[in-house]
Amino acid sequence: MKIQSAQMGTEVVGVIGAGYVGLVTAATLASLGHEVICVDVDREKIEKLRSGDVPVVELGLPELLHQHRDRLTWSLDAADVFERARIAFVTVDTPGLPSGDADLSRVEAVIGRIPDDVPPMILAMKSTVPVGTGARIQRHLRRQGLDQVTYVSNPEFLREGTALRDVRHPDRVVVGADDLRDADEVARLWAPLGGPLRCCDLASAEMIKLAANAFLATKISFVNEIANVCEHVGADVAVVAEGMGLDHRIGADFLEAGLGYGGSCFPKDVAALKQLAGNSGYHFQLLSAVIEVNELQKRRVVSALAARLGTLAGARVALLGVSFKPWTDDTRESPALVLAERLTAEGATVVAHDPVVGAAAAKVLPAGVAVVRDLAEAVSGADAAVIVTAWPEYGGLLEQGMSRAMARPLLVDGRNMLDPYAAARAGYEWVGIGRPEYATAAAAHIAHPMAGAR
Ligand code: NAD
Ligand code: UGA
Repeated sequence: MKIQSAQMGTEVVGVIGAGYVGLVTAATLASLGHEVICVDVDREKIEKLRSGDVPVVELGLPELLHQHRDRLTWSLDAADVFERARIAFVTVDTPGLPSGDADLSRVEAVIGRIPDDVPPMILAMKSTVPVGTGARIQRHLRRQGLDQVTYVSNPEFLREGTALRDVRHPDRVVVGADDLRDADEVARLWAPLGGPLRCCDLASAEMIKLAANAFLATKISFVNEIANVCEHVGADVAVVAEGMGLDHRIGADFLEAGLGYGGSCFPKDVAALKQLAGNSGYHFQLLSAVIEVNELQKRRVVSALAARLGTLAGARVALLGVSFKPWTDDTRESPALVLAERLTAEGATVVAHDPVVGAAAAKVLPAGVAVVRDLAEAVSGADAAVIVTAWPEYGGLLEQGMSRAMARPLLVDGRNMLDPYAAARAGYEWVGIGRPEYATAAAAHIAHPMAGAR
């Protein structure tokens, strides 16, 4: 029987998929007073969670899960959710297929586990799915005679690294449903967190998620192209982005030029939207360019290094940062993986460092890439170092002796995170993305008016 918890207004809620989104969803719902049953098929993950360990790196998550452990149950069996929860959030992964389409096999596996005699419930989709998925799942449920299961789209907009903050202070809550009563039930769970609520039809909710990610990725590819032009014409993209971002119609966010976007979402979601459009007969030209610019952006670093070192064959290159962004251990589609492949293919010896990913980096990097724990060890004897991820730890490169330990103090700042003048003063030949090469030893003593602007 579906039950409400003893405390008025709290529910028994299911979360299926204990990854980045699932764990943050579970912890947040528990913190709002709900009893949460969180399921995963990964035995190792569930055992870790049962013993109080958190299998992903996310700021504040271990503390929140610990604080509300009495309201959290970890299970390997989705039946526990279908027996007891009134609302079940689906948070399984939906990776990209080689075709660019989203792989919905895990979502389908969850749907396949719903028993015929399940008590009335709402299935709330948080996983990112192609537009039309909700309608298809609803048809499937009807065909199976599961009329007591209703479906709601409740896309998630969190970013890794700031996931808890994003969920607790949402820019918006989107709930798509055929029946507004179902939308309302899901919306009420999130209401204590505030944020504008948009209830709409299923297809529009699904499209809001894909369009938002595609737009953010477009902003990044746009600023990266501006950066590339800046390099040709002598402008500084850091200054340009700041000046652009002051226009409230443009906004300052997501205008950081660099090695391009990575992660488990932008690459696959942009491809999925492009593919979705293609499958329905529309050629989404802009997204083709966004994807291509992003791919080339990672590779530009390889030519920049080759141009400066003469050849990459035999060169020792330190790759600093393996996660796709700081404050996470997630390496999915990290630019570091492409760079390591390309540099190794060109005959370079690659040494990788990441303050959080640590030894797990060796599993995702090409064979032959050494992974070291110590920053000084990573750069020691290197012909070049590349900052791939803007970990604050890389401010340590400016410490005395670091540049001198390199065979050649060539530092490519792939995230424009260091002050070029400070880098030059620390003895580096500093190369940014879309920034003029004014960080020479001579210039190091001149205070540039825009230094430290970002
Ligand atoms: P993840 O890979 O970290 O976690 C997914 C979890 O689901 C894994 O632990 C996996 O074992 C589990 N799983 C797979 N099949 C299952 C099944 N049949 N039953 C139970 N558990 C199962 O993925 P994630 O990063 O949390 O992303 C989940 C979804 O949310 C994706 O669709 C993603 O696009 C979307 N999303 C992710 C983010 C993000 O920043 N990571 C943000 C917004 C939306
Ligand atoms: C992104 C979105 O920001 C979230 O809103 C969304 O929920 C999520 O995808 C998702 O659907 O999974 P996330 O991938 O966790 O979140 O991280 P972001 O901060 O968006 O960064 C993505 C990539 O873009 C990173 O590689 C980052 O380095 C890069 N980036 C970001 C830039 O190159 N420049 C920028 O200005 C911002």
